[in-house]
Amino acid sequence: MKPFDIVIVGGGGAGLYAAMEAMKTNPALNIAVLSKVYPNRSHTSAAQGGANAALGNKAKDDTVEMHIFDTIKGSDYLADQDAVDVLCSEAPKIIRELENMGTPWSRMEDNTIAQRPFGGAGRPRCCYCSDKTGHTILQTLYEQCLKKGVIFFNEYFALNLSVSGSRSKGLIAMNMKSGKVEAFPAKTVILATGGYAKMYWNRSSNAAGNTGDGQAIAYRAGIPMKDMEFVQFHPTGLRKSGLLVTEGARGEGGYLVNKDGERFMARYAKEKMELGPRDLVSRSIETEILQGRGFDSPAGTYVHLDLTHLGADLIKSRLPQIREMAMNFEGVDPIEEPIPVKPTAHYSMGGIDTDNQTRTVMEGVYAAGECACVSVHGANRLGGNSLLDILVFGRIAGRTAAEEAGKFTPGRITEAELAEQFDEIRGGMQASGRYERYGELREELGHTLALNVGIFRESSLLQKGIADLAELKDRFKKVRISDSSDVFNTNLMQVLELKNMLDLAETVAAGAYARQESRGSHTRIDFPVRDDVNWHKHTLATLVKGNVTLGEKPVTMGRYELQERTY
Ligand code: FUM
Repeated sequence: MKPFDIVIVGGGGAGLYAAMEAMKTNPALNIAVLSKVYPNRSHTSAAQGGANAALGNKAKDDTVEMHIFDTIKGSDYLADQDAVDVLCSEAPKIIRELENMGTPWSRMEDNTIAQRPFGGAGRPRCCYCSDKTGHTILQTLYEQCLKKGVIFFNEYFALNLSVSGSRSKGLIAMNMKSGKVEAFPAKTVILATGGYAKMYWNRSSNAAGNTGDGQAIAYRAGIPMKDMEFVQFHPTGLRKSGLLVTEGARGEGGYLVNKDGERFMARYAKEKMELGPRDLVSRSIETEILQGRGFDSPAGTYVHLDLTHLGADLIKSRLPQIREMAMNFEGVDPIEEPIPVKPTAHYSMGGIDTDNQTRTVMEGVYAAGECACVSVHGANRLGGNSLLDILVFGRIAGRTAAEEAGKFTPGRITEAELAEQFDEIRGGMQASGRYERYGELREELGHTLALNVGIFRESSLLQKGIADLAELKDRFKKVRISDSSDVFNTNLMQVLELKNMLDLAETVAAGAYARQESRGSHTRIDFPVRDDVNWHKHTLATLVKGNVTLGEKPVTMGRYELQERTY
């Protein structure tokens, strides 16, 4: 295949914005987007709530500076302040750019773009399209990419970077339709594959495909992962499925209520109540549950998200998808009854270590969106800053790669490399004797993470989690791929995804064990206080001779000094 200037891995918001911007920067470039699903089915489509931007709407009295401060405070002062500047300063431009491309933002009565309150934000700042914001943004971007002539390789599973010394020669991927392993030689590669919270399996809001493929590819290539211990639990996942109930539901005025009928958030965040930041609200719900004030059910203990007082008109117009999901997955109509909810693993603050231009330590390799860690979210991301992150840094990645592609000469990916990859991924088809089943390993992975590396963490639990993961990795060597076909071998893909999750889960647990403090989403009951003297730093997890090796990196400070974080 003729070498590409840019290969983008991932067809969600970050990947598509990168492709569009790269084409705009230099229309002569040869750009490909690879995605394991059709781009308009990628997980961005599940983002309900919206994207934050201080639009300068007078009535809301908001400023970019307030957005910057809220984000830094929300991050528990672990975000890099120069990166947060970029995120928040670019936000108004991005929202208007999307509007000009056709994104149908919900409107106020005076026809300005509507903004709703979101957790941890000092002003109503979240721009939304009903409760289907990610879906509508994705359609807009996909249309633009098609119009600009981006080449799509849909249903391709990215396997590994092809590396020569300190630089990448391109990507090796499996064509899911044929089972063939193919080479994508490229001057530059942008990883934009989304998050890895599906490793928490049945306690996650994520799509089945959010298995950290891009992070695992980078990790195996020796690129460090930053701040992997910070996993965000969204306060309101549906009790049975873990599916997301947008923070927008609380932004519109929904209440959280325990089995005693109390709006219990008064105990934890008197002022912000249900609109505290996510780490705080999730811990509060979990505490209610652990202290016996949740509702019991065979599907687990939960609390109520009560929207009944909002009225049918508001629910039908601003939260239609939530209503549909509550009816389909919980059998309750939120117009009439509260929704059973509990915290659900939702987002990975950690990811591939990049600079503010999305460059990684490997020449020609960039990362953007949830798979990257710039870091703009630090120890806890604010709701509405994730869509913003994929848009702002997706665009920067596209521009940077387009500008820098000329510096690199494309490498040659050899037939021998492809053959080696082919043999490696199919090894499990030969497993004989006592073998392991994918489904069991996957369930056990989710179970041990939820139990031992969950919302509340503690030394002995984390040690148990680390030991379980080592055992699972060992058992994985004997996993059997029961389907031997070439065409759409979904069992093979699941096994490859499981391998990625197992590799990354080790970095999450190692970081969580090492970090002896509580900060943002990382709550150590044995180290309950934030320790700025010893732990105001990023962790870096690198794969060295098959083992996780932890290092560190300073946090970039700016205008805001460390402060106690209260709501
Ligand atoms: O609650 C939500 O709608 C999720 C938004 C986000 O994760 O930013």
